[in-house]
Amino acid sequence: MAHETTLILCKPDAVSRGLVGEIVGRFERRGYAIVAMHMMQLDGERARSHYGEHKGKPFFADLVGFITSGPLVALAVEGESAIEGCRQIIGATDPMRAVPGSLRADFAQTIGRNLVHGSDSTESAKRELAIFFKDADFTRGRELERWISG
Ligand code: RTP
Ligand code: MG
Repeated sequence: MAHETTLILCKPDAVSRGLVGEIVGRFERRGYAIVAMHMMQLDGERARSHYGEHKGKPFFADLVGFITSGPLVALAVEGESAIEGCRQIIGATDPMRAVPGSLRADFAQTIGRNLVHGSDSTESAKRELAIFFKDADFTRGRELERWISG
C-alpha cells in the first residue's frame, strides 16, 4: 500500500447533469481526502496535453472537443492506493462493461460520455496533477487532512 494523490475530473457531462455532488461523495465516503478542487473550462492546449497518450487515436479529436465543451471540476484526491481505488469507484471505461455500483455503471451509458476521469498510474497522476494544480493549491487541503486524521 502507498499513500497516493490522484487526479479526478468530473467531466462536462457530470457538471451539466448535476452529478458532481454524487461523484465527489463517492470518493469522500470511501475515506479519501479531497486536498484540492477547481471548477474550470479547459482550453484545447491543456486538453491535448492531458490526453496526450491518446494523440493519433481515432477518438482523440472528439475527446478533446468534449472535454473542452463546458466546465469541469478537477479534484486532487489522496489516500492509500488512491489511484487504483478511485479507478475502482469510477468503473471500466465503457459503462456497459463497468461493474454495477461503480459510477460509470450507475450513471453513464456510453464510452464518450463516461462522466469521470481518474489517473491510471503514479506517472500519469504526477503529470496530470501538474496540468490542473499548483503545489500551493494542496497546502490548505493537506493541513486539513492532517488535522482531521489527528
Ligand atoms: P479516462 O482517462 O477519461 O479516465 O478514461 P479511461 O482511463 O478509463 O480510458 P482511456 O483509455 O484513458 O480513454 C480516455 C477517454 O477516451 C474515450 N475513449 N473513447 N471510442 C473509443 O473507443 C474510446 N476509447 C476511449 C473515453 O471517454 C475515455 O474515458
Ligand atoms: Mg485514461
